[in-house]
Amino acid sequence: MKITIVGTGYVGLVTGTTFAEIGHDVLCVDNDTSKIDKLESGIMPIYEEGLEEMVLANVKAGRLKFSTSVAEGTAFAEVIFIAVGTPPGYQGEANMSYVESVGREVAEHMTSYRLLVEKSTVIVNTNEQLTRTMNKYLKADIPFDIASNPEFLREGTAIKDAFKPDRVVVGVESDRAGDLLREIYAPIVEKSGCEYLQMDIASAELTKHASNSFLAMKISFINAVSRICELTGADITQVAHGMGLDARIGEHFLKAGVGYGGSCFPKDVDAFVRMGDEVGYRLDLLKEVQSINKQQREHVMRKLKQEMWVLQNKRVAIFGLAFKPGTDDIRESPSLYFVPQLQEQKASLCLWDPIAREKFNEEFPGLDYNDDLLECAKDADVLLILTDWPEIRELDLAALKDSMRCPIVVDGRNVFDAQAMDAQGFTYHSVGRP
Ligand code: UDX
Ligand code: UDX
Repeated sequence: MKITIVGTGYVGLVTGTTFAEIGHDVLCVDNDTSKIDKLESGIMPIYEEGLEEMVLANVKAGRLKFSTSVAEGTAFAEVIFIAVGTPPGYQGEANMSYVESVGREVAEHMTSYRLLVEKSTVIVNTNEQLTRTMNKYLKADIPFDIASNPEFLREGTAIKDAFKPDRVVVGVESDRAGDLLREIYAPIVEKSGCEYLQMDIASAELTKHASNSFLAMKISFINAVSRICELTGADITQVAHGMGLDARIGEHFLKAGVGYGGSCFPKDVDAFVRMGDEVGYRLDLLKEVQSINKQQREHVMRKLKQEMWVLQNKRVAIFGLAFKPGTDDIRESPSLYFVPQLQEQKASLCLWDPIAREKFNEEFPGLDYNDDLLECAKDADVLLILTDWPEIRELDLAALKDSMRCPIVVDGRNVFDAQAMDAQGFTYHSVGRP
């Protein structure tokens, strides 16, 4: 089928490319001309494992094209996915202006039936707002449908998640919309055997917020327990292992650390809390989830300050700038909290990240970066670990110790084994472990 995707960010580009890979004819639209220029010359605007070769192969096969015009996108296909940003506003509410502008442009240019699919995370009942907006700008009485198709892609494994999702969720209110989406996803459902859930639109939109909020709550729960561990001499990694073997709890998302970041959890939990306030049920539970997440960063910063007493003129090496391993995305990353504070304390920094360095340098130009871990730690008075990149775990501890001026490590992701660090003579602080 022909498919238009508006918004070629982390979600839109992966979604469009995987649709092309399974045989559809895809046009990806974005209003950021530099992004489209890069894509048309084969340069990726984002990093996702496996994405570059898949984009190039499908462009070559003629199944994947790019444009900056929503009008062209509207003419190209009957089904238009909206994957533009829904960034948090100042009060935390989702900024729906981009979604609204796409709906308006499609309405102004469409000459026959169109199905608009909400891929971006939107607050519940956005479909009603979108319908009202489109009715205002339609040139004639042309039929259209809105559908919800929330994404559950995890950055760093987005391509894999796209081909082998746990489930595909669609929210529709007409058979025509339901048939179109079922046909689009048929190759993925058949190949992966995943569940295909068709429900009403509000339920589909809510499924996304509830899922992400539950995952964020799980992380804040284990981080809260890690604080109790620190006060009682228990070991959070043992506790999490003991908990996770219960199938009802599950081992995933029980890693204590400096807290969650990314473009989804903070924004989606915020939007869910706001929505609760709007519809008349206060999701105070989630306010506590957010508060625990914020406290976790402050707690790790306190460990660093208590250990170092004075940070001014100290050499601080920081391993990990991306919000999680496997991505170049630094949105809401812990590094965005620690680096400004350490600069304020007049510490001298050296930063390492295998993929997110460029994106971080755009925010913090002129800092010391080093692509070699041991070089980055050279003569450091303390090492702060913020992202659990596998390369860090593989480091030779003796070499690390020799490289540093003082063998002091504050490990915000429990990357290293506490006993091994102790045996090597490090002063080692981590999260929830003796
Ligand atoms: C986005 C939403 O932010 C997120 O809520 C949802 O879960 C999935 O889609 P992401 O793909 O990470 O996530 O956003 P981003 O990487 O910012 O990409 C959005 C793209 O839309 C950008 O490339 C931006 O240039 C483009 N855009 C934005 C448009 O093409 N038109 C607009 O009017 C606004
Ligand atoms: C998340 C959801 O997993 C995905 O389904 C949704 O579509 C988008 O949001 P993503 O934000 O890409 O995906 O990354 P994820 O792997 O969920 O990690 C989010 C944050 O939680 C990261 O900062 C990570 O460091 C943190 N995390 C994750 C923990 O602190 N502990 C854990 O055990 C797991």
